Amino acid sequence: MSRLDRCLSVRDFEREARRIMPRCVEGYVCGGTEDGASLRESLRAQHDIGFKPRGLRVVDQRSSQVSLFGEQYAMPVGFAPTGFSAIVMHECDLALARAAQDARIPFIISGASSVPLERLQEATGKRCWYQAYLPGNTDRIAKLLDRLRRAEIPVLVVTIDTCVGANRENLQKLAFTVPFKLSPRVVLDGMLHPRWSLNVFMRTLLGSGVPRFSNLYEDIGPPITQDPPNGFRGERDKLSWDHIRWIRRNWPGKLVLKGLMHADDARLAHEAGADGVIVSNHGGRQLDGCISPLQALPDVVAAVPAGFPVMVDGGFRRGADVLKAVALGASMVFTGRPQLFGAAVGGNAGIRKVTEIFRSEISTNMALLGCGSLADVTPDLIAPMRVACPA
Ligand SMILES: Cc1cc2nc3c(=O)[nH]c(=O)nc-3n(C[C@H](O)[C@H](O)[C@H](O)COP(=O)(O)O)c2cc1C
Repeated sequence: MSRLDRCLSVRDFEREARRIMPRCVEGYVCGGTEDGASLRESLRAQHDIGFKPRGLRVVDQRSSQVSLFGEQYAMPVGFAPTGFSAIVMHECDLALARAAQDARIPFIISGASSVPLERLQEATGKRCWYQAYLPGNTDRIAKLLDRLRRAEIPVLVVTIDTCVGANRENLQKLAFTVPFKLSPRVVLDGMLHPRWSLNVFMRTLLGSGVPRFSNLYEDIGPPITQDPPNGFRGERDKLSWDHIRWIRRNWPGKLVLKGLMHADDARLAHEAGADGVIVSNHGGRQLDGCISPLQALPDVVAAVPAGFPVMVDGGFRRGADVLKAVALGASMVFTGRPQLFGAAVGGNAGIRKVTEIFRSEISTNMALLGCGSLADVTPDLIAPMRVACPA
Protein backbone atom coordinates (compact mmCIF):
# COMPACT_ATOMS: atom_id res chain seq x y z
CA MET A 1 0.00 0.00 0.00
CA SER A 2 1.40 3.43 -0.91
CA ARG A 3 1.85 6.21 1.63
CA LEU A 4 -1.03 8.06 0.00
CA ASP A 5 -3.36 5.04 0.16
CA ARG A 6 -2.65 4.70 3.87
CA CYS A 7 -3.94 8.23 4.51
CA LEU A 8 -7.68 8.13 5.14
CA SER A 9 -7.96 11.25 7.27
CA VAL A 10 -6.20 14.59 7.70
CA ARG A 11 -4.59 13.24 10.87
CA ASP A 12 -3.16 10.32 8.87
CA PHE A 13 -1.66 12.87 6.47
CA GLU A 14 -0.19 14.81 9.37
CA ARG A 15 1.47 11.68 10.80
CA GLU A 16 3.00 10.77 7.42
CA ALA A 17 4.03 14.36 6.64
CA ARG A 18 5.88 14.69 9.94
CA ARG A 19 7.98 11.66 8.96
CA ILE A 20 8.93 13.13 5.59
CA MET A 21 9.68 16.76 6.48
CA PRO A 22 13.02 17.77 7.98
CA ARG A 23 12.58 18.84 11.59
CA CYS A 24 12.93 22.54 10.78
CA VAL A 25 10.24 22.33 8.06
CA GLU A 26 8.01 20.30 10.39
CA GLY A 27 8.59 22.91 13.10
CA TYR A 28 7.69 25.72 10.70
CA VAL A 29 4.51 24.05 9.40
CA CYS A 30 3.22 22.37 12.54
CA GLY A 31 4.45 24.64 15.31
CA GLY A 32 2.83 27.40 17.31
CA THR A 33 4.33 30.14 19.47
CA GLU A 34 5.64 30.14 23.04
CA ASP A 35 3.80 27.34 24.93
CA GLY A 36 1.60 26.36 21.97
CA ALA A 37 -1.56 27.15 23.94
CA SER A 38 -3.45 28.91 21.11
CA LEU A 39 -2.69 26.05 18.73
CA ARG A 40 -3.72 23.37 21.24
CA GLU A 41 -6.93 25.17 22.12
CA SER A 42 -7.93 25.54 18.44
CA LEU A 43 -7.58 21.79 17.93
CA ARG A 44 -9.23 20.87 21.24
CA ALA A 45 -12.22 23.22 20.99
CA GLN A 46 -13.76 21.20 18.16
CA HIS A 47 -14.49 18.49 20.74
CA ASP A 48 -16.39 20.86 23.04
CA ILE A 49 -19.30 20.85 20.61
CA GLY A 50 -21.48 17.81 19.91
CA PHE A 51 -24.21 17.12 17.38
CA LYS A 52 -27.91 16.47 17.91
CA PRO A 53 -28.74 14.83 14.56
CA ARG A 54 -32.24 14.61 13.08
CA GLY A 55 -33.58 11.43 11.51
CA LEU A 56 -35.98 10.42 8.75
CA ARG A 57 -35.19 13.38 6.58
CA VAL A 58 -34.70 12.70 2.90
CA VAL A 59 -31.07 13.46 2.16
CA ASP A 60 -30.46 11.72 -1.16
CA GLN A 61 -30.05 15.04 -3.06
CA ARG A 62 -27.80 16.92 -0.67
CA SER A 63 -25.49 19.74 -1.68
CA SER A 64 -22.74 21.47 0.25
CA GLN A 65 -22.58 24.39 -2.22
CA VAL A 66 -22.05 27.86 -0.88
CA SER A 67 -22.36 31.22 -2.58
CA LEU A 68 -19.84 33.87 -1.55
CA PHE A 69 -18.76 37.15 -3.16
CA GLY A 70 -20.58 36.27 -6.37
CA GLU A 71 -18.96 32.82 -6.75
CA GLN A 72 -20.50 29.40 -6.24
CA TYR A 73 -18.15 27.17 -4.24
CA ALA A 74 -18.54 23.40 -3.94
CA MET A 75 -18.23 23.36 -0.16
CA PRO A 76 -17.61 25.71 2.77
CA VAL A 77 -13.88 24.92 2.84
CA GLY A 78 -11.08 26.99 1.34
CA PHE A 79 -7.30 27.12 1.43
CA ALA A 80 -5.97 29.71 3.88
CA PRO A 81 -2.83 31.64 2.90
CA THR A 82 0.35 29.80 3.85
CA GLY A 83 3.66 31.56 3.27
CA PHE A 84 6.92 29.80 2.35
CA SER A 85 5.01 26.71 1.17
CA ALA A 86 7.89 26.24 -1.30
CA ILE A 87 9.73 24.45 1.51
CA VAL A 88 7.01 21.79 1.60
CA MET A 89 6.69 21.05 -2.12
CA HIS A 90 8.20 22.35 -5.36
CA GLU A 91 5.95 25.19 -6.61
CA CYS A 92 3.47 24.38 -3.87
CA ASP A 93 1.55 27.66 -4.36
CA LEU A 94 0.72 26.65 -7.92
CA ALA A 95 -0.33 23.13 -6.91
CA LEU A 96 -2.60 24.53 -4.18
CA ALA A 97 -4.13 27.08 -6.54
CA ARG A 98 -4.86 24.46 -9.21
CA ALA A 99 -6.26 21.92 -6.73
CA ALA A 100 -8.55 24.59 -5.27
CA GLN A 101 -9.69 25.65 -8.72
CA ASP A 102 -10.48 22.04 -9.72
CA ALA A 103 -12.34 21.41 -6.45
CA ARG A 104 -14.19 24.75 -6.84
CA ILE A 105 -13.10 26.11 -3.49
CA PRO A 106 -11.43 29.45 -2.66
CA PHE A 107 -7.64 29.74 -2.51
CA ILE A 108 -5.90 32.66 -0.82
CA ILE A 109 -2.43 33.56 -2.13
CA SER A 110 -0.15 34.37 0.79
CA GLY A 111 1.74 37.65 0.78
CA ALA A 112 4.75 35.52 1.71
CA SER A 113 4.39 33.14 -1.25
CA SER A 114 6.86 32.48 -4.05
CA VAL A 115 5.06 31.75 -7.31
CA PRO A 116 4.19 35.18 -8.76
CA LEU A 117 0.55 36.00 -8.19
CA GLU A 118 0.08 36.82 -11.88
CA ARG A 119 1.00 33.21 -12.74
CA LEU A 120 -1.39 31.87 -10.11
CA GLN A 121 -4.16 34.07 -11.50
CA GLU A 122 -3.40 32.84 -15.02
CA ALA A 123 -3.67 29.22 -13.90
CA THR A 124 -7.02 29.64 -12.18
CA GLY A 125 -9.12 31.87 -14.40
CA LYS A 126 -8.29 34.85 -12.13
CA ARG A 127 -10.16 33.48 -9.15
CA CYS A 128 -7.43 33.62 -6.48
CA TRP A 129 -7.96 35.75 -3.42
CA TYR A 130 -4.82 37.57 -2.20
CA GLN A 131 -3.69 38.01 1.40
CA ALA A 132 -1.60 41.07 2.20
CA TYR A 133 0.86 41.74 4.99
CA LEU A 134 0.60 45.50 4.88
CA PRO A 135 2.87 48.20 6.18
CA GLY A 136 1.18 51.20 7.82
CA ASN A 137 2.18 53.41 4.90
CA THR A 138 -0.36 54.44 2.27
CA ASP A 139 2.25 55.13 -0.43
CA ARG A 140 3.55 51.58 -0.16
CA ILE A 141 0.03 50.11 0.09
CA ALA A 142 -1.02 52.06 -3.03
CA LYS A 143 1.76 50.48 -5.11
CA LEU A 144 0.73 46.98 -4.06
CA LEU A 145 -2.94 47.74 -4.79
CA ASP A 146 -1.94 48.80 -8.33
CA ARG A 147 -0.34 45.43 -8.89
CA LEU A 148 -3.36 43.57 -7.46
CA ARG A 149 -5.74 45.62 -9.62
CA ARG A 150 -3.73 44.83 -12.75
CA ALA A 151 -3.78 41.13 -11.83
CA GLU A 152 -7.59 41.34 -11.37
CA ILE A 153 -7.55 39.93 -7.85
CA PRO A 154 -11.22 39.71 -6.83
CA VAL A 155 -10.80 39.56 -3.03
CA LEU A 156 -8.13 41.34 -0.96
CA VAL A 157 -7.59 39.77 2.47
CA VAL A 158 -5.70 41.96 4.93
CA THR A 159 -4.12 40.07 7.82
CA ILE A 160 -4.36 42.15 10.98
CA ASP A 161 -2.82 39.87 13.62
CA THR A 162 0.85 40.17 12.69
CA CYS A 163 1.83 43.70 13.69
CA VAL A 164 5.09 42.20 14.99
CA GLY A 165 6.78 38.81 14.62
CA ALA A 166 5.68 36.42 17.36
CA ASN A 167 7.91 34.49 19.74
CA ARG A 168 8.51 31.22 17.88
CA GLU A 169 10.91 29.57 20.27
CA ASN A 170 10.57 26.23 18.52
CA LEU A 171 11.99 27.73 15.32
CA GLN A 172 14.88 29.38 17.15
CA LYS A 173 15.80 25.98 18.57
CA LEU A 174 15.66 24.45 15.08
CA ALA A 175 17.73 27.31 13.58
CA PHE A 176 14.88 28.22 11.21
CA THR A 177 14.85 31.90 10.32
CA VAL A 178 13.12 34.35 7.97
CA PRO A 179 14.99 35.26 5.77
CA PHE A 180 15.97 31.61 5.38
CA LYS A 181 19.59 30.75 6.29
CA LEU A 182 21.31 27.49 5.39
CA SER A 183 23.01 26.81 8.72
CA PRO A 184 25.00 23.57 9.27
CA ARG A 185 22.10 22.39 11.46
CA VAL A 186 19.57 22.91 8.65
CA VAL A 187 21.87 21.18 6.12
CA LEU A 188 22.21 18.13 8.40
CA ASP A 189 18.45 18.11 8.95
CA GLY A 190 17.96 17.98 5.16
CA MET A 191 20.50 15.20 4.75
CA LEU A 192 18.63 13.09 7.28
CA HIS A 193 15.46 13.48 5.18
CA PRO A 194 16.61 12.42 1.70
CA ARG A 195 13.16 12.22 0.16
CA TRP A 196 12.54 15.87 1.02
CA SER A 197 16.06 16.88 -0.08
CA LEU A 198 15.54 15.30 -3.48
CA ASN A 199 11.88 16.11 -4.17
CA VAL A 200 11.71 19.57 -2.68
CA PHE A 201 15.14 21.11 -2.10
CA MET A 202 17.01 19.87 -5.18
CA ARG A 203 14.00 20.04 -7.47
CA THR A 204 13.32 23.63 -6.46
CA LEU A 205 16.93 24.75 -6.75
CA LEU A 206 17.42 23.11 -10.14
CA GLY A 207 13.91 23.90 -11.45
CA SER A 208 13.28 27.50 -10.47
CA GLY A 209 16.15 28.57 -8.22
CA VAL A 210 15.88 29.85 -4.68
CA PRO A 211 12.22 30.82 -4.04
CA ARG A 212 11.65 34.54 -3.86
CA PHE A 213 9.47 36.97 -1.95
CA SER A 214 7.41 37.26 -5.12
CA ASN A 215 4.16 38.64 -3.76
CA LEU A 216 4.94 40.76 -0.73
CA TYR A 217 5.04 44.18 -2.37
CA GLU A 218 4.64 45.80 -5.78
CA ASP A 219 7.58 43.97 -7.44
CA ILE A 220 9.04 40.48 -7.41
CA GLY A 221 11.31 40.67 -4.37
CA PRO A 222 14.63 39.04 -3.49
CA PRO A 223 15.23 35.34 -2.77
CA ILE A 224 13.91 34.18 0.62
CA THR A 225 17.51 34.06 1.83
CA GLN A 226 17.63 37.89 1.83
CA ASP A 227 15.57 40.53 3.58
CA PRO A 228 13.12 42.27 1.20
CA PRO A 229 13.44 46.08 0.79
CA ASN A 230 12.00 47.75 3.94
CA GLY A 231 12.27 44.38 5.73
CA PHE A 232 9.86 41.45 5.89
CA ARG A 233 7.86 43.12 8.66
CA GLY A 234 8.76 46.79 8.02
CA GLU A 235 6.11 49.26 9.26
CA ARG A 236 3.52 46.56 9.94
CA ASP A 237 3.29 47.84 13.50
CA LYS A 238 1.94 51.15 12.12
CA LEU A 239 -1.08 49.62 10.36
CA SER A 240 -4.37 51.01 11.75
CA TRP A 241 -8.10 51.31 11.08
CA ASP A 242 -7.33 54.55 9.19
CA HIS A 243 -5.40 52.48 6.64
CA ILE A 244 -8.32 50.05 6.31
CA ARG A 245 -10.67 52.97 5.63
CA TRP A 246 -8.15 54.37 3.12
CA ILE A 247 -7.94 50.95 1.40
CA ARG A 248 -11.74 50.81 1.22
CA ARG A 249 -11.78 54.11 -0.65
CA ASN A 250 -9.05 52.95 -3.02
CA TRP A 251 -9.77 49.26 -3.57
CA PRO A 252 -12.67 48.42 -5.90
CA GLY A 253 -12.72 44.67 -5.16
CA LYS A 254 -13.95 42.79 -2.12
CA LEU A 255 -12.13 43.52 1.13
CA VAL A 256 -11.80 40.96 3.93
CA LEU A 257 -9.98 41.33 7.26
CA LYS A 258 -8.28 38.18 8.58
CA GLY A 259 -7.16 37.55 12.14
CA LEU A 260 -10.00 39.05 14.17
CA MET A 261 -10.94 37.45 17.48
CA HIS A 262 -12.95 40.26 19.12
CA ALA A 263 -16.57 41.17 18.37
CA ASP A 264 -15.75 44.91 18.55
CA ASP A 265 -13.14 44.49 15.79
CA ALA A 266 -15.78 42.79 13.65
CA ARG A 267 -18.08 45.77 14.21
CA LEU A 268 -15.27 48.16 13.27
CA ALA A 269 -14.48 46.09 10.17
CA HIS A 270 -18.09 46.31 9.06
CA GLU A 271 -18.23 50.06 9.74
CA ALA A 272 -14.97 50.55 7.79
CA GLY A 273 -16.63 49.02 4.75
CA ALA A 274 -15.08 45.54 4.77
CA ASP A 275 -17.04 42.87 2.90
CA GLY A 276 -16.26 40.09 5.36
CA VAL A 277 -14.00 38.90 8.17
CA ILE A 278 -12.03 35.76 8.93
CA VAL A 279 -12.03 34.86 12.62
CA SER A 280 -8.56 33.45 13.19
CA ASN A 281 -5.68 33.27 15.66
CA HIS A 282 -3.28 32.62 12.76
CA GLY A 283 -3.26 28.89 13.45
CA GLY A 284 -1.75 29.54 16.90
CA ARG A 285 1.28 31.20 15.28
CA GLN A 286 0.94 34.72 16.69
CA LEU A 287 -0.38 35.60 20.16
CA ASP A 288 -0.17 32.58 22.43
CA GLY A 289 -2.92 31.94 24.99
CA CYS A 290 -5.79 32.89 22.67
CA ILE A 291 -9.21 31.33 22.89
CA SER A 292 -10.06 29.18 19.89
CA PRO A 293 -11.51 30.82 16.76
CA LEU A 294 -14.48 28.45 17.18
CA GLN A 295 -15.17 29.95 20.62
CA ALA A 296 -14.78 33.49 19.27
CA LEU A 297 -17.09 32.84 16.30
CA PRO A 298 -20.59 33.21 17.85
CA ASP A 299 -19.84 36.65 19.37
CA VAL A 300 -18.44 37.87 16.06
CA VAL A 301 -21.48 36.58 14.15
CA ALA A 302 -23.78 38.32 16.66
CA ALA A 303 -21.85 41.61 16.31
CA VAL A 304 -22.40 42.12 12.57
CA PRO A 305 -25.58 42.39 10.50
CA ALA A 306 -27.13 39.14 9.20
CA GLY A 307 -25.68 38.19 5.83
CA PHE A 308 -22.27 39.83 6.49
CA PRO A 309 -19.82 36.98 5.72
CA VAL A 310 -18.04 35.72 8.82
CA MET A 311 -15.43 33.10 7.98
CA VAL A 312 -13.16 31.19 10.32
CA ASP A 313 -9.94 29.17 10.41
CA GLY A 314 -7.81 27.28 12.91
CA GLY A 315 -7.82 23.63 13.90
CA PHE A 316 -10.33 22.29 11.36
CA ARG A 317 -9.32 18.71 10.54
CA ARG A 318 -12.65 16.97 9.84
CA GLY A 319 -15.74 17.66 7.78
CA ALA A 320 -17.61 17.40 11.10
CA ASP A 321 -15.52 20.31 12.50
CA VAL A 322 -16.47 22.40 9.47
CA LEU A 323 -20.19 21.67 9.97
CA LYS A 324 -19.97 22.80 13.62
CA ALA A 325 -18.62 26.18 12.45
CA VAL A 326 -21.36 26.40 9.80
CA ALA A 327 -23.97 25.72 12.51
CA LEU A 328 -22.46 28.61 14.49
CA GLY A 329 -22.87 30.95 11.50
CA ALA A 330 -19.63 30.64 9.51
CA SER A 331 -19.96 31.23 5.74
CA MET A 332 -16.62 29.56 4.99
CA VAL A 333 -13.99 27.61 6.89
CA PHE A 334 -10.34 27.88 5.84
CA THR A 335 -7.66 25.31 6.45
CA GLY A 336 -3.91 25.97 6.53
CA ARG A 337 -1.87 22.95 7.57
CA PRO A 338 -4.08 20.13 6.21
CA GLN A 339 -3.32 20.81 2.53
CA LEU A 340 0.38 21.30 3.35
CA PHE A 341 0.39 17.84 4.93
CA GLY A 342 -1.18 16.56 1.70
CA ALA A 343 1.49 18.32 -0.37
CA ALA A 344 4.31 16.90 1.75
CA VAL A 345 3.00 13.34 1.53
CA GLY A 346 1.77 13.12 -2.04
CA GLY A 347 2.36 16.38 -3.96
CA ASN A 348 -0.57 17.25 -6.24
CA ALA A 349 -2.34 13.98 -5.50
CA GLY A 350 -1.89 14.51 -1.77
CA ILE A 351 -3.45 17.99 -1.83
CA ARG A 352 -6.34 16.67 -3.90
CA LYS A 353 -6.92 13.76 -1.54
CA VAL A 354 -7.05 16.07 1.50
CA THR A 355 -9.64 18.20 -0.31
CA GLU A 356 -11.63 15.11 -1.23
CA ILE A 357 -11.56 13.92 2.39
CA PHE A 358 -13.16 17.19 3.52
CA ARG A 359 -15.75 17.00 0.71
CA SER A 360 -16.69 13.44 1.43
CA GLU A 361 -16.80 13.86 5.23
CA ILE A 362 -19.00 16.95 4.87
CA SER A 363 -21.36 15.11 2.53
CA THR A 364 -21.60 12.01 4.75
CA ASN A 365 -22.05 14.00 7.94
CA MET A 366 -24.66 16.29 6.39
CA ALA A 367 -26.67 13.15 5.58
CA LEU A 368 -26.19 11.75 9.09
CA LEU A 369 -27.32 15.10 10.56
CA GLY A 370 -30.41 15.11 8.32
CA CYS A 371 -29.31 18.10 6.23
CA GLY A 372 -29.91 18.46 2.50
CA SER A 373 -28.16 21.82 2.22
CA LEU A 374 -25.96 24.06 4.33
CA ALA A 375 -29.03 26.15 5.16
CA ASP A 376 -30.26 23.11 7.11
CA VAL A 377 -27.11 23.11 9.27
CA THR A 378 -28.63 25.22 12.05
CA PRO A 379 -27.59 25.97 15.66
CA ASP A 380 -30.23 23.59 17.10
CA LEU A 381 -28.17 20.68 15.72
CA ILE A 382 -25.28 21.35 18.11
CA ALA A 383 -24.84 21.56 21.88
CA PRO A 384 -21.99 21.78 24.40
CA MET A 385 -20.43 18.33 24.80
CA ARG A 386 -21.16 17.62 28.46
CA VAL A 387 -23.63 15.68 30.56
CA ALA A 388 -25.90 17.78 32.76
CA CYS A 389 -27.12 16.02 35.87
CA PRO A 390 -30.82 16.59 36.65
CA ALA A 391 -31.20 18.89 39.71
C1 LIG B 1 2.96 27.14 7.32
C2 LIG B 1 1.97 28.24 7.53
C3 LIG B 1 2.16 29.47 6.92
C4 LIG B 1 1.23 30.49 7.10
N1 LIG B 1 1.39 31.67 6.44
C5 LIG B 1 0.45 32.61 6.52
C6 LIG B 1 0.54 33.78 5.73
O1 LIG B 1 1.46 33.95 4.94
N2 LIG B 1 -0.43 34.71 5.89
C7 LIG B 1 -1.48 34.56 6.77
O2 LIG B 1 -2.34 35.44 6.86
N3 LIG B 1 -1.60 33.44 7.50
C8 LIG B 1 -0.68 32.47 7.39
N4 LIG B 1 -0.81 31.31 8.09
C9 LIG B 1 -2.02 31.12 8.92
C10 LIG B 1 -3.12 30.46 8.07
O3 LIG B 1 -3.58 31.33 7.08
C11 LIG B 1 -4.32 30.03 8.94
O4 LIG B 1 -4.76 31.12 9.68
C12 LIG B 1 -4.00 28.87 9.87
O5 LIG B 1 -3.06 28.00 9.32
C13 LIG B 1 -5.26 28.08 10.16
O6 LIG B 1 -5.00 27.05 11.06
P1 LIG B 1 -4.80 25.51 10.64
O7 LIG B 1 -3.43 25.40 10.13
O8 LIG B 1 -5.01 24.81 11.95
O9 LIG B 1 -5.85 25.17 9.62
C14 LIG B 1 0.10 30.28 7.94
C15 LIG B 1 -0.08 29.04 8.55
C16 LIG B 1 0.83 28.03 8.34
C17 LIG B 1 0.57 26.69 8.99
